[in-house]
Amino acid sequence: MVVNSLMHIRCTESKKTLKKSIKNWFYISLLNFQIVRCTEESCLATKQALYSIEWRGSVKQRFVWLTEQQEGVLFIETNASSNLMIDGIDHPLELLIRWLEDAKVAGVDKPDAMNIATIGKEGKPRNRMVLMRHVTQNEIGFFTNLLSDKSKEITANSNVSATLWWPNMERQIRIEGAASLMDREFVEDYFKTRPRNSQIAAWASKQSQSLESMHVLDERFQEAKRRFANDDIPIPEFWGGYTISIDRIEFWLGQPYRLHERIVFTRTENGWNISRLFP
Ligand SMILES: Cc1cc2nc3c(=O)[nH]c(=O)nc-3n(C[C@H](O)[C@H](O)[C@H](O)COP(=O)(O)O)c2cc1C
Repeated sequence: MVVNSLMHIRCTESKKTLKKSIKNWFYISLLNFQIVRCTEESCLATKQALYSIEWRGSVKQRFVWLTEQQEGVLFIETNASSNLMIDGIDHPLELLIRWLEDAKVAGVDKPDAMNIATIGKEGKPRNRMVLMRHVTQNEIGFFTNLLSDKSKEITANSNVSATLWWPNMERQIRIEGAASLMDREFVEDYFKTRPRNSQIAAWASKQSQSLESMHVLDERFQEAKRRFANDDIPIPEFWGGYTISIDRIEFWLGQPYRLHERIVFTRTENGWNISRLFP
């Protein structure tokens, strides 16, 4: 896709202001894009300042800024590499892992935070945030209290959907699949890696049940602390995790003028079916 467009911008603006204008114009707020001045002879000869905007991986844009006018004209060109790249991806979760890594590198706060929806009573959807603390080539997973509302809902109906969003990168992933209890051995290993106070908190919380006051929660926390004072904290039986086997996963990449890209992988008997959707 090539998009050419004009944008008026003051030549006297500093790089910082220029960055702000670009962010507003593209609806982007990328953390780490760079403006690089071109030193190619061709652009020096035409007295144009050719810059490129670059950021990690899949998005790259170029623009020309005419320096001779008070009111500069910005020429924006989006080249092919700014599109959603799925070449060489054998399995959609490879792309999920890549995007998650990109988000970590870009310094996104809680890059593994995802919203997960379950089906509640009477078929009504309910959703909340969890941390996607398990990702392999085949599945994703999260940890939680097994007596919580979400766990009861999953037991009654294993269909779930989840969304990850990295606003600074203009990327969203939507997932649909079936949740099932995570291997106990794996959960135990993970529990051991948690900070001691988080382990104690797992004992203290009757997640999703009604709580009279924060004082009661603190009492329960202190009580568990005393109980395991000189020991490693054992994993509560009611604490565990769920894996989600994915049936459908959609990658969304923000593009100029809201001409966003959507690519959907749907599981079939013979592998993955790939299709594009209008934004
Ligand atoms: C960013 C974020 C991450 C969270 N991660 C988890 C998590 O990994 N596991 C969990 O049980 N709750 C997590 N929570 C709390 C849940 O959103 C929710 O309040 C809790 O699990 C109870 O949900 P339920 O009553 O629907 O079962 C997180 C909340 C936020 C805001």
